[in-house]
Amino acid sequence: DVNENDDRFMFKYRGIYFQATYTSPQTIDSVQDFEVKDSDVFLVTFPKSGTVWTQQILSLIFNEGHRNGTEKIDNMSRVPWIEYNLYQIDYDSRPSPRLFTSHLPYYLVPKDLKNKKGKIIYVARNPKDVAVSYYHFYKIIVGITQKKDWESFLDDYLSGKVLCSSWFDHVKGWYNHQEDFNILFLTYEEMKKDLRSAVLKICRFVGKELKELEVEAIVEKATFHNMKQDPLANYTFVAEDIFDFNKGTFLRRGAVGDWKNLMTVAQNEKFDKFYNEKMKDVPMNFTWDI
Ligand code: A3P
Repeated sequence: DVNENDDRFMFKYRGIYFQATYTSPQTIDSVQDFEVKDSDVFLVTFPKSGTVWTQQILSLIFNEGHRNGTEKIDNMSRVPWIEYNLYQIDYDSRPSPRLFTSHLPYYLVPKDLKNKKGKIIYVARNPKDVAVSYYHFYKIIVGITQKKDWESFLDDYLSGKVLCSSWFDHVKGWYNHQEDFNILFLTYEEMKKDLRSAVLKICRFVGKELKELEVEAIVEKATFHNMKQDPLANYTFVAEDIFDFNKGTFLRRGAVGDWKNLMTVAQNEKFDKFYNEKMKDVPMNFTWDI
């Protein structure tokens, strides 16, 4: 069930759009048989929901709040993608605890995770801010032949014609199947409101007890302001044939409620209607503005 999209930079496999340059149906299939260790931690998100932010927090937690041993290592190498192994890292020989990132839906992650091996941190962000962030992000992705205006991008986003497909299916899928996994749910908005509490929640979940000063150091290194200036955390290290930073930055605004600057009243009404229909059985409450 591999389909070409009108835009060749992505292909659809098992219901999900993937970026064609960096993965393949074979790779996606092989991920399911990946052997998970109990000490593994998987960060799972829909794109633009705070992935890089949480990569930063996780890698700092596992380095006792400082950078010993990781000073020259970028975020993506510290918490690499399982389905997009850009640096061809040998995951099997990686020292434990291994940290991974994934945008996969619940039904495509390693099967071992379903046997409650390893831990998953799922970060969700309100879908209006995700849409806006995604729209800006699409401008910097190299290889997209059809750059869309906001109105048509929003239509694609609602109907799941973007990388990783539908935000609604992704979040719902993970939320409804959380009993099957060893999982901690977090939201971008709660991280934004109280980063320290979010860091402590993650520490508890992954079984890391840190000293107060170490927690403070992590919070400090994970603020938007500081991450934006940190070349190992702000994704400026990514090669120019992947992102075109003349068109924008990865750490763009880092706010809750930025959708209000782009969405028209009519678009917002349409969005709410779609949201209420799609999420009617899901008892999740998102914060739309702070
Ligand atoms: P904006 O485009 O709204 O600024 P992902 O890493 O999942 O692709 O998500 C990217 C979004 O997370 C971007 O949102 C980015 O600015 C935001 N982000 C990254 N680090 C952040 C931080 N430390 N605090 C707040 N937002 C952050």
